[in-house]
Amino acid sequence: MHLSRLLALALAAAACLAPATGLDRPFPPVRGEAPTPERVELGRLLFFDPVLSGDRSLSCAHCHRPELAFSDGRKTALGAGGAQLARNAPTLYNAAFKESLFWDRRAGSLEEQALGPLLASDEMAADPAVVVARLAAIPEYARRFEAAFASEAEPLSFGNVVRAIASFERTLVSQDSRYDRFARGDRSALDASERRGLTLFRSLNTRCFECHQLPTFEAPLAMGVGVPSSDRGIGGAHGRPGQDGLFAIPTLRNVAVTAPYMHDGSLATLDEVVAFYRKGGGRPLGVEPGRIHEHVRPFDIRDDEARDLIAFLHALTDESARPETPAAVPSGLPVLRERRFASSEETRP
Ligand code: HEC
Ligand code: HEC
Repeated sequence: MHLSRLLALALAAAACLAPATGLDRPFPPVRGEAPTPERVELGRLLFFDPVLSGDRSLSCAHCHRPELAFSDGRKTALGAGGAQLARNAPTLYNAAFKESLFWDRRAGSLEEQALGPLLASDEMAADPAVVVARLAAIPEYARRFEAAFASEAEPLSFGNVVRAIASFERTLVSQDSRYDRFARGDRSALDASERRGLTLFRSLNTRCFECHQLPTFEAPLAMGVGVPSSDRGIGGAHGRPGQDGLFAIPTLRNVAVTAPYMHDGSLATLDEVVAFYRKGGGRPLGVEPGRIHEHVRPFDIRDDEARDLIAFLHALTDESARPETPAAVPSGLPVLRERRFASSEETRP
């Protein structure tokens, strides 16, 4: 027998011995350029540093808070001067694996994505030339850009600000939840209720798995589940009215930490999300049925089964890559200071 054939047989035998769950799927490769330690550390500091925003008050971390799996706990995010933005701030965990970013999939890379909030006048309102001048005047940043982009003619550029932040984001991976340990063969990693929840998640009854696919629990697609809102989603971003109401399929990793839910933050808890799907998504809410995917249909599960499904979603939590929030940033500006707005007596973080 040919050697490679023997090897294949041996491998197949070994695979049979391992407690195969059929769930152990490899993650796609991290997209984009490989991060270096210098760029990651620089990116971490920039992520938390309000110096990038026009009025020096707002950092990426204000809307993507490390302790909330990089979401912000609000229905929709608060922009410059306290402006209420239209959408919910998603988690950044595993964004490195995504083919496209934003709820309407309008950015094709983390670098392209970061330009959105940096330049938007109702978000960080950054002026690239001003940002570069500010950073160049801070010796620690000048030194760190020199080290991180040593081989380049112009280490401190706006493009490299964005590349450093993207490098940092590429380290925010989440792939060691209790579910992952179960998938790799450790049956004790999930309790009985969570295992029943996993079975429900993968059933033709709920069909959750059709869109929230293994192992990322998202998919590079956009779908309509019928969240009633005036946001056109894909249709608006890509000028295709036929795709109004379709949104990127979000990851469910760390979903227990990232309430509230959906592009508009309209569902406050996972109980509300499961109740929504049980009734067929937006079907009973007056959303045109043509805008709701056929896999979202009313399904019949008992209340204890709904609790199992939610227990399973909690087993998708892994925040082991959570970075340290820097005690200070090179600009000397306060990290994650509460923002005060003239237009309101309220103080909001
Ligand atoms: C004012 C709040 C706010 C700030 C500041 C902010 N973001 Fe966001 N972020 C959001 C919101 C809201 C969305 C969703 C917007 C949409 O889909 O149109 C988002 C989306 C993202 C996404 C896409 C995730 C996905 O899965 O599609 C990434 C990545 C991201 N932000 C990174 C950053 C970085 C890096 C910075 C700093 C340069 C930053 N954000 C600053 C609120 C903010
Ligand atoms: C047809 C595809 C599809 C199916 C089936 C589906 N989802 Fe979703 N899911 C989506 C899309 C698209 C969104 C975002 C919708 C929006 O914001 O308008 C979403 C959003 C969510 C969210 C909110 C995540 C967040 O970060 O805001 C949760 C939780 C969720 N789904 C869980 C489930 C569960 C549990 C099931 C099975 C009962 C399920 N989904 C079935 C496509 C699907």
